[in-house]
Amino acid sequence: MRFFLDTANLDEIREAAAWGVIDGVTTNPSLVAKEGDVAFHDHVRAIADVVKGPVSAEAVSLEAELMLREGRELAALSPHVVVKIPMTPDGMGVVRILAAEGLHTNVTLVFSVNQALLAAAAGATYVSPFVGRLDDIGQDGMALVREIASAFRASGVRTQVLAASIRHPRHVTEAALAGADVVTLPFKVLRQLFDHPLTEKGISAFVSDWERYRSRHGRA
Ligand code: G3P
Repeated sequence: MRFFLDTANLDEIREAAAWGVIDGVTTNPSLVAKEGDVAFHDHVRAIADVVKGPVSAEAVSLEAELMLREGRELAALSPHVVVKIPMTPDGMGVVRILAAEGLHTNVTLVFSVNQALLAAAAGATYVSPFVGRLDDIGQDGMALVREIASAFRASGVRTQVLAASIRHPRHVTEAALAGADVVTLPFKVLRQLFDHPLTEKGISAFVSDWERYRSRHGRA
C-alpha cells in the first residue's frame, strides 16, 4: 500500500517528502481554502514540484462542460496532476472523456460499492471511499474499503482503491488489511505512524550503551 498526504500545506508536504515515505498528495477545496490567499493553479504546480508523484486537484464546477474544461486546465499544470472529480452522473461522463485523453482521475466522495463500480466503469484511475465520514455517521467505513477492493479483484478492475478520510493510525493498518492500494492521510496521522514507545526506549538504550562503550574504550 502506498501513502499519499492529504493536505494542501506546502510545509507539511516538504517535511513528509523528506521522510521518504509519501508517493503523492491529495487535496480538496476545503484543504486549499485552509491555506488562505493562495493562487490555486500555482499552488498545485508547487505541490507537484515537491512531491513529484500523483497530486489530486479537484474540479469544483458541477456542470459537465465546465468540469471538463476545469479538469483539462488542472491536468495541463503538471504531468503529476490527477483530476479529482465528484461522484455524480456528469462527473462520470467527464472521467470517461479525460481517461480517453490519457489523463488520470480520482473519483471522490464515494460512499458505496456501486458508486465505486460506476467510477471504475467510467475509467477512473483512483476511487476514494471516505472512511472517517462513514464512521462519523455510525457506519463501518473500513467495510466499504474491503468490499470495494474485493469487488474490484473479483471483476479484474484496475482502478486503484484510495482510502480517504483517514482519522487515526488504526485506520491505516485496517486500510492495508482491507486491500487498499493507497491510503491518503493527514500530516498528523502520518507522523504518528512512526512512533512506538519501544522504538524510543530501544534508541535511548543503544545511544547510552554506545556512549558507555566509547568512554570505556576511547574509540568508536
Ligand atoms: O481528501 C478527502 C478526504 O480525505 C477528506 O477527509 O477528514 O475531511 O473527512 P475528511
